[in-house]
Order: sequence, then structure tokens, then C-alpha cells
Amino acid sequence: MLEFLSKMYVPANRDKYAIGQFNISNLEFAQAAVAAATESKAPIILAASSSAIKYAGIEQLVAIVKSLADKATVPIALHLDHGADIKQAAECVKHGFTSVMIDASDKLLEENIRITREVVALAHTSGVTVEAELGRLGGIEDDLNVAIKDAHLTDPAEAERFVHETGCDALAVAVGTSHGAYKFKGKPIIAFDRIAEIKKRVGIPLVLHGASSVEPSAVATINRFGGKIDDAHGLEDDSYKRAVSLGVCKVNIDTDLRLVWTATLRKLLAENPAEFDPRKLLGPARDAVRDEIKHKIKLLGSAGKA
Ligand code: G3H
Ligand code: 13P
Ligand code: ZN
Repeated sequence: MLEFLSKMYVPANRDKYAIGQFNISNLEFAQAAVAAATESKAPIILAASSSAIKYAGIEQLVAIVKSLADKATVPIALHLDHGADIKQAAECVKHGFTSVMIDASDKLLEENIRITREVVALAHTSGVTVEAELGRLGGIEDDLNVAIKDAHLTDPAEAERFVHETGCDALAVAVGTSHGAYKFKGKPIIAFDRIAEIKKRVGIPLVLHGASSVEPSAVATINRFGGKIDDAHGLEDDSYKRAVSLGVCKVNIDTDLRLVWTATLRKLLAENPAEFDPRKLLGPARDAVRDEIKHKIKLLGSAGKA
């Protein structure tokens, strides 16, 4: 069954584990995510971004996820990732998403509050959960001065006011992570103290975006079989446990799935030049995505929680 994310957050926030958000754009990624959650007995979030919706079609994505969720034995949320505006959030609520993110983090604080409030009002009427974002995602290099770091990280006092005035259910925070395969120049730096400070002030589930570990083995395979992904770095495995212990209840993973998918396909194509049956190529890639999701579920502490 599809489940409202706010319901899934209650035990996660209380018992300190995080639910993984895994981005999907097609049938195979959705199947991989549901299989991983089922085998791990874990709650899970399947997320579609604006570009995923544009790629696959909203009715088609909802139909795929709903039909898988209806047969599943674990709670599954369908979430809009980085919703662009009120209209898009409304469209997703209408089509049966159980959670939406409104990302107005590029706007001035007052405008972000105004837009988020409106989305909360419309989503809550249908029981749908709302995630909002405050701060700007981006790496915090060691040599950046404090003023520059503060300018883009989420400010704890602002977060308190934002949550109070918007009524959002979850808050995405900027604490040093960023999207994609090139997150850190050297050693990963995450502002764990800031996660703790924000959590103390807001209490609601915090969300960590840009949380892929940029799996080194996948990057190596891609490069060995003709790809070119240089200097890619992501989170270390220890970081998940620490972030979750401080109040992160949702962790977003997209890049790692894309990497293991591509690594599997590149290797298969290189080693089986005569193969042209898509099922023999996409099937193993789907299995690799499933295994990566199972690995992440374990790191987030949500295995066995469904
Ligand atoms: O946060 C960004 C996600 O990785 C989605 O990326 O817009 O390419 O689907 P996308
Ligand atoms: P990654 O690019 O680190 O996988 O982050 C995904 C994300 O935050 C989606 O919202
Ligand atoms: Zn994100």
C-alpha cells in the first residue's frame, strides 16, 4: 500500500532511524526499490523529480509505483523531489503522491515561507506530507571563512522560525552535502554540529539531500569499461549513522543508483558483445540497483522496521 510519509516518520523520528529516498524514472528502478525494501523489511520512499516526471509521464510513474505498492508488504511513500512550485505540488497531490517537497530555497526567506505555507495548506487537506528546504546545498571547504560557510548552510534560528510559520512536516537542511558525483574536493566535511542544533530547535524529521557515497567500486568499473568519471567523491559510510543519530530521518540517494546501473551495463555490454536482448541487460542492472538500495537501507538503520 502507498502510505503517507508523515505516518512513516513517526517511528523513525522516535526510534532514530532514517527512511531512504531513492529516485526513480522508470519501471526497473521502481521494481529494484520495492524489492530491496521488501527483502530488507524496510519502509521506503520512491521519489520522482520534475525531470523524472517529464521523462516518464506522471500517470505512468504513479501507475507503476501504485501497482507495485498495492502488492507490497512494506510501507511505500511516493514523493515529489524538489517540487518547483505550488502548481506542480498540487498536480502531484491530485495524482496520488503521498508526499511532496516544495523547494523554494533559492528565494528570499519571506518568499520561501509564503510559498511553503501555501503548499502545506493544499497538501494537508489531502493528508499529504510536505518537505521544505532552507539553506543552499553545497560543499564546505576547509579554507572557506566562517561568514561564507554560514551564508549557505541552514541557520538554526531561521529554521526554527521557518518550521513554526510554515507547518512543514520535514525540513531539508544544507550541512555540506551537494547533489551529483562531485561533492567534496578532499575529505568529506559535514556540519554535524549544525544538524544537532537545528534538530534541537525544530524537532521534526530532518532530510539529508545529496547523500550518495559515490560508490568507488561503481566509479572504478565505469572507468574500466570506457567511462570517464574523474575525481568523484561522496559520503563515507560512517556519516550516515552519525547524521541519523542526530535527527536525520530521511536520506536522499540518486547518484549511487545511477552509478551502479551504468557500471553494470557498461561491463555487460563490453563482456557480451553479441547480447542485444534488453531484458538480459536491464535485468542485471536492476539487480545491482536493488543490492545498492539494500546496502543503503542497512546503513540508515531502517532494515527490519517495517
Ligand atoms: O536532487 C536531484 C535528483 O538527483 C534528481 O535529479 O533532476 O536529474 O532527476 P534529476
Ligand atoms: P545524490 O545526488 O547525492 O544522490 O542526492 C540525491 C538527492 O538529494 C535527491 O533529492
Ligand atoms: Zn535533493
